[in-house]
Amino acid sequence: MPGSPALAERVRAVVAAHRDERGALLPILHDIQGEFGYIDREVVGLLAAELNLSRAEVHGVISFYADFRTEPAGRTRLRLCRAEACQSVGAEDLLAHAQQVLGIKAGQTTPDGSVSLDEVFCLGNCALGPAGQLNGRLHGRLDRARLDDLLATETAGS
Ligand code: FES
Repeated sequence: MPGSPALAERVRAVVAAHRDERGALLPILHDIQGEFGYIDREVVGLLAAELNLSRAEVHGVISFYADFRTEPAGRTRLRLCRAEACQSVGAEDLLAHAQQVLGIKAGQTTPDGSVSLDEVFCLGNCALGPAGQLNGRLHGRLDRARLDDLLATETAGS
């Protein structure tokens, strides 16, 4: 995340892009996380000032949605779908496996900063579940062995 002046400038630009939208805070938070990978504490204050909200209100929205991250993400980002279609073909088992091999829970990053694991609710790949996304690339019909292989390839040398 950039230093304070540059960060404030980016936050103001994102807010300006959503200025006329109803319920702008959510898309603003998504944009900021999309750009920086997480929502820094400093951003909470900046957004509160820009949107005329209290810090507690901004923080409340961030902590309500599991999608938002308040710490930097790992170098490899794994997102596993837990929505219904994927659940019916083994998504829960896959998530449990990922949590076990990585030694973290969904929403966390490994202590060495190599992998972040997140649950998502539908990746638009329902016919090919269980679905997951590794560093932005979509994968279907995942099972334990394929997930292990993908993780090993993606984290090699990281
Ligand atoms: S339910 Fe998993 S991709 Fe849609």
